[in-house]
This record gives sequence, structure tokens and C-alpha cells, in this order.
Amino acid sequence: MKKNNSDINLRIEKLREEIRRHDHLYYVLAQPEVSDAKYDELYAELKKIEDENPHLITPDSPTQRVGGAPTKEFQNVTHSIPMLSLSNTYSEEDIRDFDKRVNGLLEGRQYSYVCELKFDGVSLAIRYENGILKSAITRGDGVQGDEITQNVKTIRSVPLKLNISSTLPRNCEIRGEVVMNHTDFNKMNEEKELTGEKLFANPRNSVAGTLKLQDPQIVGTRPLRFIAYLLLDQLNDGNHFDNLHKLKQLGFLVDTNAKRFDDIEGVINFWKEWEIKRESLPFDIDGIVVKVNSLRQQEMLGAIAKSPRWAIACKFKSRKADTILLDIKLQVGRTGTITPVAILEPVKIGGTMVSRASLYNEDYIREKDIRIGDTVVVERGGDVIPKVTSVLFENRKKTSVPFIFPKKCPECKSKLVRFDDEANYYCENSECPMQIRGRIIHWAARGAMDISGLGDAVVDQLVSNEFVHNVADLYDLFKFRDKLKSLERWGEKSVDNLLDGIEKSKSREFNRILFALGIRHVGSSISQVIVDHFSTIEELMKVSVENLQNINEIGPKIAESIVRYLSDPHNKKVVTRLKAAGLKMASQRNKKSGPFQGKNIVLTGSLSNFTRDQAKELIESLGGKVSSTVSKNIDILVVGLDAGSKLEKAKKLGIETWDEEKFLSIINLHKKVTDV
Ligand code: IVH
Repeated sequence: MKKNNSDINLRIEKLREEIRRHDHLYYVLAQPEVSDAKYDELYAELKKIEDENPHLITPDSPTQRVGGAPTKEFQNVTHSIPMLSLSNTYSEEDIRDFDKRVNGLLEGRQYSYVCELKFDGVSLAIRYENGILKSAITRGDGVQGDEITQNVKTIRSVPLKLNISSTLPRNCEIRGEVVMNHTDFNKMNEEKELTGEKLFANPRNSVAGTLKLQDPQIVGTRPLRFIAYLLLDQLNDGNHFDNLHKLKQLGFLVDTNAKRFDDIEGVINFWKEWEIKRESLPFDIDGIVVKVNSLRQQEMLGAIAKSPRWAIACKFKSRKADTILLDIKLQVGRTGTITPVAILEPVKIGGTMVSRASLYNEDYIREKDIRIGDTVVVERGGDVIPKVTSVLFENRKKTSVPFIFPKKCPECKSKLVRFDDEANYYCENSECPMQIRGRIIHWAARGAMDISGLGDAVVDQLVSNEFVHNVADLYDLFKFRDKLKSLERWGEKSVDNLLDGIEKSKSREFNRILFALGIRHVGSSISQVIVDHFSTIEELMKVSVENLQNINEIGPKIAESIVRYLSDPHNKKVVTRLKAAGLKMASQRNKKSGPFQGKNIVLTGSLSNFTRDQAKELIESLGGKVSSTVSKNIDILVVGLDAGSKLEKAKKLGIETWDEEKFLSIINLHKKVTDV
């Protein structure tokens, strides 16, 4: 029966409400109620109804977060009220002075303060009209900023529609900070490292860089969060603390650490406490912000030049320091990546002694014109490794010379190579002791084979005493039990522990092994993708670069790297030995069976009974694989309406083509058979 319009409208609204509620539970409250699969199901249903009824799509629909077309240039717009900055204070005395000024200007009236964390991100103004997100604007110069609405819509902690009630505003502007958590930042940089892309220096830079991207689709993949700290509406007689509560009710993330104080002593203690507690936060803060609570009093106090008189920032001790760059050493990673490291005259930064810092790569050193002997600025942020961020050129000695990147590996002296499109140099000698060490440490690591008893120091001893040259040697170590016991600081118990840990690692799944092998550009998620498509190592060893690229998530770099790794005779031997030692070189998951078993299928044109995602899911559930491009390895091309070049190519290659009817009939036939 065909559904009538009001049924459809009701269902759409119900789905949108449900999805909004789950987004809020997940992204704002961090208390999800349903599984990802259930969420995806709701989303897919909404998307399907909207695809079929495009006139019912509204800008506040959860499907409209991503989908905006890339922008060529952002519009420059004027802020409703200028976005002021805060004056900074750095000492207890400064904070007391601020309080004296407030006290004087308020002429003996009672007042209180709200203290909040000062988030180290990028500030943003978001306008809502009748409860619907209308525009989002960067701070810019404070008077005018860039309109980046499409990008901001992809941030899941920004509601597209406010949670409205009679006590909450519908027409308002929300100001706050976009931040990125340390773990998300590190993960993102690790992935960038795997694909050889430029790394971001710190979470704030990565937020700023992301918000400026012209493609909202990419912005949507970046883990940004928006924390609201100001509510601007028509009501000026309330107070800021209540506004923070309103912001929370409207659906925003707010600072749950915010506190109200009646005197400046409380403010000073809050500042001192957070200077220490900042380490435990998942994101960077660079101080606290103190605001006079009453909005009327804020208005009375007003602003001078570019900052308000009713608020100040109380900054923490700097996480930056100047020191001398004594030397630049090269570090060799497990895949042979060479990383230059700054050796510094030790300096205390935020309570920690720092004597080494990252210099990333040759281009970074050249761009910043960093030279040995220079006075450099070193920064430490969150749990990120310290890095050299700039040079104090005024201190540069006339005799200084630019750093010439060494041409040989500092460990094994083999020639270093740099590929055209990559920033790093590599040591290509896979027998380089530092690479062996790195590969074994990676093999034993948590997310990989997770071998207890095989820490860095143990690996050092095993490699330097030539017990192991590769990961397969670990599984022969039991033959050398007695010799191991005689190693310095080793005994019966530690040897047993190690051998036991190695034995246990034999039960790890195939995807973990693939990740643990340390193939360049193959992280844990790509390993999972590979296992989804190839159930044994033999299958994977036979695949060509071209075929691998048929998998959506695998681009040319990853494909080439996998094939190069698995065709190397030395690596082949290691893999064979690992299999012989009893490691699981095949996926244990039940292979899906059905009419598409073993078939490689491409979809083209639009299907009338399914969305692309639904068709893909169906094929996979019936044993098939879906690829995105037509090549000679494709078995079937399913052709919908308005098919283009894929159909032509398939015809040329003589590939079997099915129309939607045939596709449906095969599925239905299978259903009939299995339903009996
Ligand atoms: S209130 C009138 N609250 O600090 C000032 N700002 O220089 C309104 N910031 O650009 C700002 N955390 O990006 C406020 N809890 C917080 C904040 C905060 C970070 C940033 C904001 C602003 C800068 C002030």
C-alpha cells in the first residue's frame, strides 16, 4: 500500500527526532543508548525517504550535515556584535587588580564571578533563527569573519535544530570554541603519517586548518567538537551561569567544570587548581576565563578597545621556552622512516625537563630555516611530543650554516632515499638493526600481537645479542631457553614469562597479524578492510596492485605497499615461517554464503528498489564483494537507470551485465530457497 503524505511526514519527523536525540546522547553527553548498527538503520531509513521525497528535505535534517558542495571562497560577513578578545593576566596580583577595578566600577554593589576553562581552539559564532542553524562565522578580525556554515554543520556537537521550550530562546547567537581531543589529534596524525601527508603541529592548528577546508565532506571526517561559552539573546537581565545551563538545555556541550565564586580568593584557587589539573583533560586549555556573572553588571562595566571590562583570561605558565639547538640526530623507525630529532640544551617547560624535540622532516627544517647552534622556541602541548616551532633569528651566529640532511642511515650506513611525493627519507635496508628493533617492538605492541614480557628493553637485548632478526625468530626462541637465561638481568621467571607471552600471541586474529607485520601505510583499520576482502594470506599474496585498488578504502599508495611487501622474498619467508609456527594466517570468521559467493560486483546507475548502500549490503550478505571500478577482474555489472561509462567499459571487456530485474530475481530466488 502506498503511504500517504501525512504518514510520510510523521515518519520523517519521528526519525529526525530520534536521530537528533541519539546524536546528542553520543556526541554531547557521551552516553549512547543504541548500537552503531541501530543508528545506521534509522539514518538509512530517513535518507531513503528523503531521497524518494526530495521536496521534504529541510536544512535541519540530520542528513544535511554533510552534502554541501565545496565552496570556492568563503563570504566575509559582519558580526552582529563584535567578537572581542580577553585581556590576559599571568599572576595572582594581576587577578586581584582586575577584581579591584570591577569592585570600583560597580560602586559597592554585590557581584559574583563565573570561572571557566579557557579552551585552546578556534572561536566561532553560530546564529539560530527560529531554532534552526542559519550561519556560522569565524572570529576573523573580531568585526568581520568568514561564513563557514557548511563546514560547521558537519560538527556533530553543533545542533542543527535547538531543543526549544518556553524558557529557552529561539533566535540567538551562540559563541564558543572548536577543539580537538588529544587522542583524536594523535590518531589523525598517525593516519597522516601512514599516508605520508603533512602532519599538524598541534590540535589548535589542526582545528584551524580543518575549518578552512573548502570541502565539507572532508571536514565531516575530522573529529571536531564545539564547546559553547556565550549565549547572546534579547534578554539582558539574567546571569551568565544560568545561560551556561540554558546552553546545555538547548543541546550544546558546555564546560561542566565552570564554577561560581562570590570572591576573588575562590577565583585564584580555581586558577591554581587547573594549572595542575590541565594535564588530566582530554583537550588543551591555556588558562581560565573569569566573567562577572550578572548580565546587567556586564553591560554596566562595558568594554575598552578590544576587550570587555567584565571578563579576563588568567593564563597558565607558558608551555614554550627558548633554548639552544645543540645537534640534529636522525631516528630510524620500523618502516625505515627517518625522523630528525632536535637535541637541545635541557630546558624546563611547564614543569618538565625537555632535551629532545621533534623536527618532523627535511622540509620542516628548511621551511623554518632551523640551524644547529640557533636559539629555538620549543613548545609542549598536552601529551604531544615537544617540538621546535621557530628560530630566534636575532640570536643567530654569523657562522651558522643550513642543515644538510645526511645521505646515509646513521645505523647501517646504507643510502637514504626520498620518494617524490613524500616528505620523509627512508632507509631501505630491511636488515638495519634499528628497523629490526622497531619492527619487533611494533609486532609486540598492544593493538598488534600484544605480547607481555616483550618490552623495548627486552627487544634491545634480543636484537643486539642476535637472537632475533625478524618476527618469525620469536617463535623459535623456545629452543634457546637456556641461553636466554644466561643473559644479563634475566632469570628462569622472566624467560618463562616471555616464552609464555609469545606462545599466547599465536591465538591473535588474522587482521591483528596483518597490522603487526608493519607494512607501510597499513594501519589497523586498513588491515580490517583487507581481511574483509581476503580470507587467507595466500589469496592476498596473489592479488595485483590494480585489483587491490578496486577496494574503496585502498588507494594506489597502500596497494603498492602491500604488493611490494608481500612479493619481497625475505618477507615471504617470514610469513611462511609464521604460518608454520601456528599463527592464524586466515580469517576465522564464517564466510557469508549465497548466490554471489566469490563474485566481484560493480553497481552503476540508479536502482529503483534499493539505495547504493542497501544494494551493497545485500550483495555482501550473500557472499559477494562490491568494487567501485570496472576492470577485467569484475564478474558482474549491475546496471540501473542512466548508467554511463562503466557500462561501456564492461561491454568492451566482455563482462556479464545484469539489469535490476535480473538482480532482483536472483535475490528473490535465493530468498525462496532459504525460506523453506
Ligand atoms: S569568552 C568577550 N570563554 O579566548 C570575550 N572565551 O581572547 C568572550 N576562549 O577568542 C570570550 N575559552 O576564543 C570565552 N570559556 C571561554 C573561552 C574563551 C576560550 C577564547 C576565545 C576568545 C579568546 C579570548
